[in-house]
Amino acid sequence: MTKPIRKAVLPVAGLGTRVLPGAKTTPKNLLNVFDRPILSYVVAEARAAGIEHLVFITGRGQHAIEDYFDHHFELEAQLEAKGKSEILADLKAELGRPGEMSFVRQMQPLGLGHAVWCARELIGDEPFAVILPDMLMQANPPALAQGVAAYEKVGGNIVLVEPAPEGEAHKYGIVALGEREGRLARMTGMVEKPAPGTEPSNLFISGRYILQPEIFELLGAHETGAGGEIQLTDAMVKLMATQSFHALEYDGTTYDCGDKIGLLRANVAFALARPDLGQAAREAIEALLRANPPR
Ligand code: G1P
Repeated sequence: MTKPIRKAVLPVAGLGTRVLPGAKTTPKNLLNVFDRPILSYVVAEARAAGIEHLVFITGRGQHAIEDYFDHHFELEAQLEAKGKSEILADLKAELGRPGEMSFVRQMQPLGLGHAVWCARELIGDEPFAVILPDMLMQANPPALAQGVAAYEKVGGNIVLVEPAPEGEAHKYGIVALGEREGRLARMTGMVEKPAPGTEPSNLFISGRYILQPEIFELLGAHETGAGGEIQLTDAMVKLMATQSFHALEYDGTTYDCGDKIGLLRANVAFALARPDLGQAAREAIEALLRANPPR
């Protein structure tokens, strides 16, 4: 019997350098994808995987994240008074559940490994998920739920992976794989941002992890790796010496919302997928394409 995955860590402290100026005063994970922020989709994904507690690792100037999941009394009262019950219901569905969310300040941008380590006291001694929210995933079942299902089968540590676009593997963490059964493969290695041409495969770590709590002790060594940052990948490589790791090539599509074109693609894809407004979105996009032929 595997211990259940009840908690998730969401590192959100990044400055969003690649999506400036939009991310100057709005935390990048609150940027809109169609009609709600990136984090709205990610919280829904976490809940669909059975997550009961979300630990956000924030940075300075990110109070808006807490506010987004809290009541906005003035707005709610106005909508109520005007009888706008559908909008009000949509707004209320976005609220955090009481006690469901914690916020920890990272204080210094020392890398993803350091961000995850900041959650150690809130996670304690149980396996947990890590979700990189700017990697927005469209999948059915949702991506993290696919990861949890794999974990329930093989236990240990699970990393969701997918093929990197041609020539881009060096931008990511890349895995080396042993024997494979369907979409799940035993992992034999991992490397963070390999030099071009040295990648052990074309499968990159795409932003959903299930990790055992022993990772915290390894992250606590605060060793720096690629880019001078404390890398989660390096601590996972160390944990591999004593624990099993599997890579799950998940079934779905990832949109890198930390990138301008990725964010645009996410906007279009999530709009098209909406049961209520998808058709209107399609017509608007097609009309725009007709009005703007290739130059
Ligand atoms: C991080 C991880 C990397 C992973 C990537 C996915 O890198 O360190 O292994 O492939 O996220 O987005 P970053 O994007 O923070 O450079």
